[in-house]
Amino acid sequence: MKLRHFLSLADLSQAELKALLDRAIALKHMQRQGERYMPFTGRTLAMIFEKSSTRTRVSFETGMAQLGGHALFLSPRDTQLGRGESIEDTARVISRMVDMVMIRTFSHDNLKLFAAASRVPVINGLSDDHHPCQLLADLMTATEHWGTLEGRRVAYVGDGANNMAHSWMEAAHIFNFSLRIGSPAPYAPSADMLATGGEYVTVLHDPVSAVEGADLVVTDVWTSMGQEQEAGQRRAILQDFQVNHTLMAAAAPGALFMHCLPAHRGEEVSADIMDGPLSVVWEEAENRLHAQKALMEFLFGIGPVAALQGAS
Ligand code: CP
Ligand code: NVA
Repeated sequence: MKLRHFLSLADLSQAELKALLDRAIALKHMQRQGERYMPFTGRTLAMIFEKSSTRTRVSFETGMAQLGGHALFLSPRDTQLGRGESIEDTARVISRMVDMVMIRTFSHDNLKLFAAASRVPVINGLSDDHHPCQLLADLMTATEHWGTLEGRRVAYVGDGANNMAHSWMEAAHIFNFSLRIGSPAPYAPSADMLATGGEYVTVLHDPVSAVEGADLVVTDVWTSMGQEQEAGQRRAILQDFQVNHTLMAAAAPGALFMHCLPAHRGEEVSADIMDGPLSVVWEEAENRLHAQKALMEFLFGIGPVAALQGAS
């Protein structure tokens, strides 16, 4: 079986991603039914976290345990990575011992270096440029609500230059839905980022125009991990891009709200929208668990989605 990594959504084909979302929904159902399924017995996932995490850590560790495997939490503080051992040497060593690696890091290039030296699949648990695991959960949530995203209108409001905005742009291109990014000019996507979305993505500097008629409104923190020094400046520039009642009024009736979390009520989203009836943020968070189980199954070459490999 060919070694596959998941560094961005584009590492999987459209057919594989669609099948993965269906599989995630099936695994969620199996868990709800209390069905025992332990295909990962004897397998280990190493999780390297260079940034903080609640959802990513808990969902990967729990997902491995539920499917019979074991997860190992590694931080640079406690490993030789923090004392200057190279990324490639670390990858060579770890990937001779474990069966899969998940990394949360800063530079996306470091992730690529690790993957290039690894003997086992590498998963991006968030880099400065992409957050593909979160998109699996978001797309799964949308699929549960609508069946398909094709032809839907999604608005992403706020920092259009961060990892979440980038992964949403990739998703629009792969899943063929329209994505309007509403960002102030300093936080609009770069030309490179925008190119990954192709004709499906439009950038607007007015949040109301971006949200007009949208079926789904998405936002993310204004200050991502690693940008803490810029928090004051970001708050000032992004203040008109809060997702609140007034902004949501421009969306289609019944439009859903998503946020990858953690959220800052009163900054990028008002409390009434975050905690309101059209917010699906808790389903989104739970779906990290199910979507990543389906992803790991696929990368291990187990289950129905793995059977598609090479077929698309
Ligand atoms: N959404 C997300 O990735 O959350 P954590 O930072 O808590 O893992
Ligand atoms: N854009 C955010 C996402 C957190 C899950 C960050 O990178 O901090």
